[in-house]
Amino acid sequence: MRTIAHTLTVLTLGIALASSSARAQHETAFDIEDGARAFAQSCANCHGPDGDLIAGIDLGRGLYRRPLSDAEIADIIVNGIPDTPMPPTPRMNEQQAYRIVAYLRSLEIAPAAVADSGNAARGKLIFEGKGACMDCHRVNGQGSRVGPDLSSIGLLRRAAELEQSLLEPAAEVQPSNRFYSVTPAGSEPITGRLLNHDTFTVQLFDTDERLRSFVKADLLDHGFVDTPMPSFQDELGAQEIADVVAWLVSLRGTP
Ligand code: HEC
Ligand code: HEC
Repeated sequence: MRTIAHTLTVLTLGIALASSSARAQHETAFDIEDGARAFAQSCANCHGPDGDLIAGIDLGRGLYRRPLSDAEIADIIVNGIPDTPMPPTPRMNEQQAYRIVAYLRSLEIAPAAVADSGNAARGKLIFEGKGACMDCHRVNGQGSRVGPDLSSIGLLRRAAELEQSLLEPAAEVQPSNRFYSVTPAGSEPITGRLLNHDTFTVQLFDTDERLRSFVKADLLDHGFVDTPMPSFQDELGAQEIADVVAWLVSLRGTP
């Protein structure tokens, strides 16, 4: 039932899109992916990763201050809006602008983000209590340095990506967050977040939050290891996951 209803919604919206812009029907998955990359590079720093950071505008949900056609949005992307902070991007050609539009339109028909049903205040309680997230993470100067600092995570990741981090932490690890293990002669293996490595040395932040440096030639063994972040798939219920995601989305650094 749900699948049929969903397919119908997508179909109806698909037709609406196709008629609102003759170009929409030619956009491929590649175009949308390319648009997503361009959006992250050129727009997210002001509009936020979900496109909802500027008051009255929610790009991911098609909520504009006045109704805008695809052509009008593409025009705004290239030419900006005069006398406002919305900048022109002259090096962007029309085709690239339309790929961003295709990406934004694809978000409108995607299922609503899980954060919508979550309660950030409850999420904070789970984060600090039952979830024990502070055993590894730091927020606004409190907590541990074993895992990445999450004080601004709401500016960096979309709700869907945050949800995936909780359910399948190993699915996508940022290069700067990878874990590394070294085995010095006569010692147990030491693991930690990799800070730096070159041909001769490796520096990591061990699980006791100490900065350690090793000479590779002195090591019996060294290499990347899996993330220590557990999956919360079975630890937290669906509502609790939504609450934690809502809390993470609200973390946008100290004003
Ligand atoms: C330097 C910050 C900044 C960047 C970068 C930026 N925008 Fe904007 N954008 C704004 C602001 C501020 C407004 C509101 C302008 C106003 O007061 O009308 C805006 C308005 C818009 C609007 C009109 C919304 C409406 O309701 O009328 C669209 C569409 C838009 N931006 C899309 C984009 C896209 C797509 C990108 C990336 C290619 C982008 N913006 C990059 C700051 C920015
Ligand atoms: C045992 C330590 C540990 C615990 C407990 C833990 N994490 Fe993590 N977490 C990590 C590490 C290490 C990473 C970096 C590697 C990765 O992405 O998996 C990470 C990554 C993340 C990321 C992705 C960060 C990014 O830059 O994309 C999020 C979000 C996150 N954790 C949230 C949480 C939340 C919320 C909880 C509690 C419900 C939690 N973590 C519990 C260690 C932990």
